[in-house]
Amino acid sequence: MRMPASSPAAQAPVQMDTCVEIEDVAVRFRTKRKDVTALHDVSLSVAAGEFVAIVGPSGCGKSTLLKLVSGLLKPSKGRVRLLGEDVGGPRRDIGYVFQRAALLEWRSARKNILLQAEMRGMPSATARERADELIAMTGLTGFEDAYPHELSGGMQQRVALCRALLHRPPVLLMDEPFGALDALTRENMNIELRRIWRETGTTILLVTHSIPEAVYLADRVVVMSARPGTIDELIPVDLPLERDYGRTMSEPGFARATGRIRDLLGAATSAD
Ligand SMILES: Nc1ncnc2c1ncn2[C@@H]1O[C@H](COP(=O)(O)OP(=O)(O)OP(=O)(O)O)[C@@H](O)[C@H]1O
Ligand SMILES: [Mg+2]
Repeated sequence: MRMPASSPAAQAPVQMDTCVEIEDVAVRFRTKRKDVTALHDVSLSVAAGEFVAIVGPSGCGKSTLLKLVSGLLKPSKGRVRLLGEDVGGPRRDIGYVFQRAALLEWRSARKNILLQAEMRGMPSATARERADELIAMTGLTGFEDAYPHELSGGMQQRVALCRALLHRPPVLLMDEPFGALDALTRENMNIELRRIWRETGTTILLVTHSIPEAVYLADRVVVMSARPGTIDELIPVDLPLERDYGRTMSEPGFARATGRIRDLLGAATSAD
């Protein structure tokens, strides 16, 4: 399901189309030296097919939130549901993209993408077909047999994206995926990611430190406060579905959303 961001439904997703539900969650880490409350009072509902960006000061629990959705971490309190089911342990049906591409140096781009299929025991003909589709979709055609050291940072990140999408996950979790890229490559990756999201219909939760990136990409932006992290505000992005990168920056909806996020983050940082 895809809804224009400006519709009221985009701000209050309909229950039956909910993909991710986080209900009154808290996460506490107990270490030898101290107890850290990473998250408290976090509730968030993400509709199927929605693109949600998460921003907040360093250490506010953004990565922790993604780990909860993937089942890598259990909440100390509250519940997390994915496609209507409680997340009981690590989920195999999600896709995860990290800040660094984490590719195997001794495998070609295609073989790195197919690693996902090998780990899941996917039929190899289906996996190869899907890999070719993704290679074309991300503009990697011609570089299938190149090794990671022969690829640029942006290309490596595209390989990681293909690997995460190979099994058609209903949810793609992205933790600062473009943080290590130069500004121009990052822009191009933003444009590509938005196009891929529209083509695949995957629900995306993306953590970023870039406010323009969050607003350009997302339907809604979750703004988190400093530790112990909680959701400060959910900002609906009032921009058309079809977003030209350059033109979007001069849209009133873009200025409104980025301005509001900056105000909230400024307050969060000064209270840190
Ligand atoms: N396994 C762990 N054990 C103990 N404390 C942890 C653990 N994982 C995270 N924390 C703590 O929880 C808090 C939130 O961490 P998290 O990595 O989610 O922050 P973040 O918002 O992703 O930060 P950044 O923007 O720097 O990546 C931090 O104070 C961190 O030290
Ligand atoms: Mg993090």
